[in-house]
Amino acid sequence: MKLPLILVNFKAYEQGTGGSAVVLAKIHERVAKETGANICIAVSALDLVKVCEAVAIPVFAQHTDFVGYGGHTGHILPDMVKGVGAYGTILNHAEFQLENENLEKCINAAKRAGLFVIVCANDGDRAKKISGFNPDLVAVEPPELIGGDLSVSKTEPAIIEKAVDLVGSGRVLVGAGIKDGEDVRIALALGASGVLLASGVVRAEDPYSILMDLVSGLKS
Ligand code: G3P
Repeated sequence: MKLPLILVNFKAYEQGTGGSAVVLAKIHERVAKETGANICIAVSALDLVKVCEAVAIPVFAQHTDFVGYGGHTGHILPDMVKGVGAYGTILNHAEFQLENENLEKCINAAKRAGLFVIVCANDGDRAKKISGFNPDLVAVEPPELIGGDLSVSKTEPAIIEKAVDLVGSGRVLVGAGIKDGEDVRIALALGASGVLLASGVVRAEDPYSILMDLVSGLKS
């Protein structure tokens, strides 16, 4: 995976699901093509098939379970996610948290299926613990800032520094409240390898312009 990266999580926002998921995914692909930036997206399991068919940028699931093929009604199988063309999966998002035992099983199952695994953590200490399970990247997001107007970069830079210090450079994304290129620039200057964000793009009136501004922060 090329670093740094910008990963936009479409969550379950109406603007990022169904037909809108494809439209929004194509805007991300356009910005990636125009700028050369590594822009990734995470979409609902229900939208993975059509989004993966529509764009060539890396597409992530928002969660995968640890079971394989068989009698597992309602589960999201990593093998199936890989099979429809997804690049990776997010695990343990603040809005879908897992106990360590199940999280480790989910990480192992996703990696066995060939998915790139990004695991979220609420703080640097949990990120350190999770890094022992060998995900590809950890994404540290203080939950109280998620979905709000204040960014982790501008209001809690110490959280970024601590996470990079504990987990190591080249392994940490940060997120929560990221809105603009300056937020991205600060995060990278503090040692992060990219950002994870959602509302700043998905709920924006003009996602293209926001993405272009975010990408401007990748250049020091
Ligand atoms: O998955 C990204 C996320 O939790 C941050 O959300 O809306 O604060 O960018 P947001």
